[in-house]
Amino acid sequence: MNRHVWNPPAAPEGAHGATPGSGVDVRIAPSILSADFARLGEEVRAIEAAGAALVHFDVMDNHYVPNLTIGPLVCEAIRPHVSIPIDVHLMVEPVDALIPMFAKAGADIITFHPEASRHVDRTLALIREHGCKAGLVLNPATPTHWLDHTLDKLDMVLLMSVNPGFGGQRFIPGTLAKLRDVRERIDVHRATGGQPVWLEVDGGVKTDNIAAIARAGADTFVAGSAVFGAPDAPEAGGGYHGVMQRLRDQAAAGMRHDRPQIPEDDFKPIYDKTTGDASCHSTSARP
Ligand code: DX5
Ligand code: ZN
Repeated sequence: MNRHVWNPPAAPEGAHGATPGSGVDVRIAPSILSADFARLGEEVRAIEAAGAALVHFDVMDNHYVPNLTIGPLVCEAIRPHVSIPIDVHLMVEPVDALIPMFAKAGADIITFHPEASRHVDRTLALIREHGCKAGLVLNPATPTHWLDHTLDKLDMVLLMSVNPGFGGQRFIPGTLAKLRDVRERIDVHRATGGQPVWLEVDGGVKTDNIAAIARAGADTFVAGSAVFGAPDAPEAGGGYHGVMQRLRDQAAAGMRHDRPQIPEDDFKPIYDKTTGDASCHSTSARP
């Protein structure tokens, strides 16, 4: 089932990831774990309006992690509210049975923790067969050697900068060295003809540390409590424009401009809000 258009379009300037004039992409992915669940549709529309590149969707199962959150039904419910991709972070074990369900529910990116899957290569293939982009998530103590035989099959590497399970934790500083390591691996991979791989970081990302995190090599930044805990003043409309702009500006300031620029590899919004059509066809082959 290939539901998505794969062709990467240029991102509009100043929104959904592009930083005007910087020449580098900054993608902010607000985690709805910290949103008001009673107003989820409104919350995701607000973050899209504020320039979010992705909706980060944290799935916890009270087994792989000691918390329980949201599943495919909630993904399906928010899908019509936004055009930006939904970035589903599976903190579940086992993984595979949920992949078709999330693909059907409108997920665009599905990431999972490799130690939670018996057959990592098979799980990655399953995600792509269902028309989604695929990523591996590495916990703070999970070694990067999981990338040795998978990098050519990944669209995203997600480095956890907290132990998964809860929002609002403190950023673990050792993640910076790990980011530099993975950044280098991805740059070498790209320079030798490999496909684009986004480098996302998740946990404790704030306006006062995002520049250092960007400098270490991340290009995609999950931020939960930092975004949803800092709404605009009611007289300013109560959205998230202020904090999202500060996060983008700070991240762009930290970005290394000496890095080789790579071709635009942004996502095409796949959900057409006007028609409700989520059944696009893949227009190019996947690796
Ligand atoms: C943690 C989740 C994160 C978390 C981020 O297990 O994967 O996405 O919600 O929240 P903050 O930004 O508050 O650390
Ligand atoms: Zn997450």
